[in-house]
Amino acid sequence: MHFKNKIVWITGASSGIGKELAYQLSRQGAILILTATNKSALEQLKVELANSKVDILPFDLLKIDAIPQLVSDAIAINGQIDFVIQSAGQSQRSMAVDTGMGVYERLMNLNYFAPVALTQAILPHFIKRDAGSMTVISSIAGLIGFPLRSSYSASKHAIKGYLETLQCEIYKTNIHVSIVYPGRINTDISKNALSGDGQRFGDTDENSDAGMEVDLCVKKIISGILKKKKVIYILKAERLLFWLWWFIPNLYYKIAHKKGVQ
Ligand SMILES: NC(=O)c1ccc[n+]([C@@H]2O[C@H](COP(=O)([O-])OP(=O)(O)OC[C@H]3O[C@@H](n4cnc5c(N)ncnc54)[C@H](OP(=O)(O)O)[C@@H]3O)[C@@H](O)[C@H]2O)c1
Repeated sequence: MHFKNKIVWITGASSGIGKELAYQLSRQGAILILTATNKSALEQLKVELANSKVDILPFDLLKIDAIPQLVSDAIAINGQIDFVIQSAGQSQRSMAVDTGMGVYERLMNLNYFAPVALTQAILPHFIKRDAGSMTVISSIAGLIGFPLRSSYSASKHAIKGYLETLQCEIYKTNIHVSIVYPGRINTDISKNALSGDGQRFGDTDENSDAGMEVDLCVKKIISGILKKKKVIYILKAERLLFWLWWFIPNLYYKIAHKKGVQ
């Protein structure tokens, strides 16, 4: 498998992991379709990627009902889509007790219902061609809970359940689904996260600052997709946390509390 002349649709392409995916896949000769809400950021990226064929499709993925039309529009641009990488997402920085229901709803819509709606809408296209690759960026918070992430972690756990079920169902087809579980990656995710009242958190945190550089993270994602890995872990020290959670859960909760509760 390779990306040269393949049509790759990236959501969340205006920032962080999605933007870096656009840079690296453009260098590998991919034909790109880029989605996010920030139209001017996408236009700027298109200018930077002038050596590649790039189309932008600005869209607010919270408009779940309009996602089937978005998928039709994306397919219509080049007549088909070979790879979809869903990186759009938002995190949270608030204790569960201080988090309003609006935050739970919004993050469930963006991190769960939107990728489900997009996947549901593109599956018939993949099934018709018996080809296609779908990657969704989840999080280690989609595997284990962590303080200040109640709604984020719940939404990422939910998408795991949907995608793993799909992986079982499509097992005998030529459609591939990869779920990516990054630990801390150095992007603006913390700044762009929601506070408990639904406002933008607007600040970085030591977890993000200590995170893996985004270019290394994206190299690992691309390599995993090309190897058709069903699960792509991008973890450093978080591997130990996961191990503790599995084997000595009480110690995990103690350490997670100490690290995460401010
Ligand atoms: N960075 C980490 O430590 C980390 C760790 C684990 C998992 N992840 C996951 O990795 C993915 C990318 O995160 P990141 O670190 O790259 O964060 P980021 O820099 O904040 O990027 C988030 C992207 O999502 C897009 N987005 C947000 N709301 C949207 C909406 N309503 N409609 C369409 N697009 C929307 C943003 O674009 P606009 O603002 O233009 O809409 C932006 O392009 C997320 O799913 C995140 O949960 C990140």
